[in-house]
Amino acid sequence: MDSDKYPGTTSRRRFVKGVLGASVLAGVGTAGGAAVTTATNPAGLGGGNIEFLGIELVEGPAPRGMPLIPVEIGDDGTISGLWPEAEQRDVGGRSVAVAQTDVGGTTYSTEWFQYCGIQDIPAIDPEADQDNTFRYDESSPYDWQSEDVTAGDPMNVADFEDYNSWGNGIGQAGLGKPATGTWRSDGVDSEETLPVQVLRIADSEADRMRQDPTMAAWLDAAAPENVLAWLSKCTHFCCVPGFKSTPQSTQFNAENDVYCPCHQSVYDPFSLVSESFVALPRPEGE
Ligand code: FES
Repeated sequence: MDSDKYPGTTSRRRFVKGVLGASVLAGVGTAGGAAVTTATNPAGLGGGNIEFLGIELVEGPAPRGMPLIPVEIGDDGTISGLWPEAEQRDVGGRSVAVAQTDVGGTTYSTEWFQYCGIQDIPAIDPEADQDNTFRYDESSPYDWQSEDVTAGDPMNVADFEDYNSWGNGIGQAGLGKPATGTWRSDGVDSEETLPVQVLRIADSEADRMRQDPTMAAWLDAAAPENVLAWLSKCTHFCCVPGFKSTPQSTQFNAENDVYCPCHQSVYDPFSLVSESFVALPRPEGE
C-alpha cells in the first residue's frame, strides 16, 4: 500500500507542474500577444506593440518581415545605421529611455530590434554610446568580402561600385550587391553583436520599388545611393538568413531573395512592408 502512495503523489505533482508549464508556454506562444507584454513589462523597460517597416516575408514559418535600418553615408563613403538621439519618456508612469524619430514619414524606433534576445544586449540600450558604423563581419558567405575587404573594416559605398552587375552564380545577377556585417558591436562579445545585411540595390530594381509610395519614401530618406540595410535576424527562431548566401536557396525558389536555411523562410528585399509585433522589453538596470 505504502509503496503505491509515493508513485501516486509523485506523478500527481508532475502532472500539476506539467499543466502549469504548458499554460505558461501557451501564453508565450499566443504571442506575441498581450500575455507577453503583461508578463514581462513590469520586469523590463520599453517593449510592447509596435509598428515597423521591414523586408517582406513571402514564404515559410517566420511570423513577419525583418526590420529595416535607416542608412547614412558619410562624406568619405562610410556606411552607418541611424540611431536616434535617446530621450526620456513617461511610459506607464515610469521614465523610460526611448530612441525614435521620423524617417520618411515612418516612426522609426530602436524597439524595432527588440526580439530574439537582441533586447538583452547592452548595445540595444537607446542611451548606449556605440559606434553606428556598419563593419564587415568575419564569416561572410560572399567571396568578394573575403577577397576585397577586411573583417572589422567600416563598410564603404565604394566597395559596392559593381552593384548593377554583381552576381555570384546563385540566381540572377544584376539585382544588387550584398554584404554582411555588424552594427553597434565594436569591442563587444561576438555573442552580443547586432548582425546586419546591406544590399546596394541595382538601379533597375530601385526604380521598380519607387512605384510604391511607401517604398519610395523609405528609399529616399533611408537608403542613400540605393544602400538598403536590415537587421539580419530571422523572426522565426533567430537564425541569420542571407541574400544569395547559399546555393540551397535555389531549391526553394529563393535564389533571388533572402533565404533562411534553418526552416526555409524567405524574405523579399525588394518589397518593404509595414507590420506590427510585440517588442520585448529590455532588462532593468541597463
Ligand atoms: S526559418 Fe526558422 S529560424 Fe529562420
